[in-house]
Amino acid sequence: MSNGPQRLDAFREVIWDHYRKHGRAMPWRATSDPYHIVVSEFMLQQTQVSRVMQKFGPFVERFPDWATLASARLVEVLAQWQGLGYNRRAKFLHQCAASVMQLHHGALPADPNLLAGLPGIGRNTAGAVCAFAFNQPVVFIETNIRRVFLHFFFSDAEGIHDRELMPWIEAALDRDEPRRWYWALMDYGAVLKSQVTNPNRRSAHYTRQSPFEGSRRQIRGAVVRMFADGAARTLEQIRTNLDVAHDERLAGIVEELVVEEFLIRSGERYAPV
Ligand code: ADE
Repeated sequence: MSNGPQRLDAFREVIWDHYRKHGRAMPWRATSDPYHIVVSEFMLQQTQVSRVMQKFGPFVERFPDWATLASARLVEVLAQWQGLGYNRRAKFLHQCAASVMQLHHGALPADPNLLAGLPGIGRNTAGAVCAFAFNQPVVFIETNIRRVFLHFFFSDAEGIHDRELMPWIEAALDRDEPRRWYWALMDYGAVLKSQVTNPNRRSAHYTRQSPFEGSRRQIRGAVVRMFADGAARTLEQIRTNLDVAHDERLAGIVEELVVEEFLIRSGERYAPV
C-alpha cells in the first residue's frame, strides 16, 4: 500500500462524488429495520437489483416481521419468492427467521459473529447487515465492492484473492458513515460493470452463472413452483406436468428436493413441506 494515504483520499473522493451525483434510491436503503435489511440482502445475494425491487415490497407486506415469517409455511414463502430464483435462499431465510425467534427472542443481534451463525448468513452477508442495519464500521466484501477495489488498486494483477483486497477495504472505510460508504461503493461497482471489462474476471473467486435455459436449476425451479398449490403428486405426474418425458435428471432432482426438505414423500407421492 505504498503512497497509501494520498491515494486513498483521492479514491474516497471519486466514490463519494459519484454517490452524490448518481446514488441509487432503494426501498431497503430507506429503512433501518434489521428484518427488512436481512430480507433484502438475501434477495440481493444472486439476483439483480431491478428484479429485487419488484419482489421486496410484496414480500415484506406479506411477511412484515420475523414472527410472521417464522410461523408461515415454507410453500407460502416460496410462493412469494417466485421470480427471484435459487429457492434455497428462501428456505434459509425462513430458517433464519425461526432462529432469530428462538435463539435471539425476535431481535436480530448486532454482532457479525452471531449473525454469521444464522442460516444462510455467511461472513459477507453478516458484514453487509451490520453496516446497513446498524451502521457499524465492519469490513466486508461482495461482488460490486470487489469490482471497485480490483479496478482501482489491482488493475494489472490476475487471480487476486479476497484476502488481498480486505486490507484495502478496511483502510478505505469511512468510519463516520459506513452505511452510506458501502452504498456508495456498491453503486460505483454497479456502474463499473457496464463501463469496463469486468474487473471481477481477475478475482480468484470469479465464476459465471451457468445458462439457465435447459439447466437442472430450471427444472428444479419448475418442480418447486408446481407444488405451490399444496397438492401431492407422483413422479409420473410431475413428469407429465412439466412435459419433460425423457429427461433423466428429473428423478434425481425430486430426490434432492426431498433431502433438502422442500418436499416430503409418502409412498409413491410427493407433497410440499
Ligand atoms: N444496497 C444495500 N444492499 C445492497 C446490495 N446488496 N446490493 C446493492 N445495493 C445495495
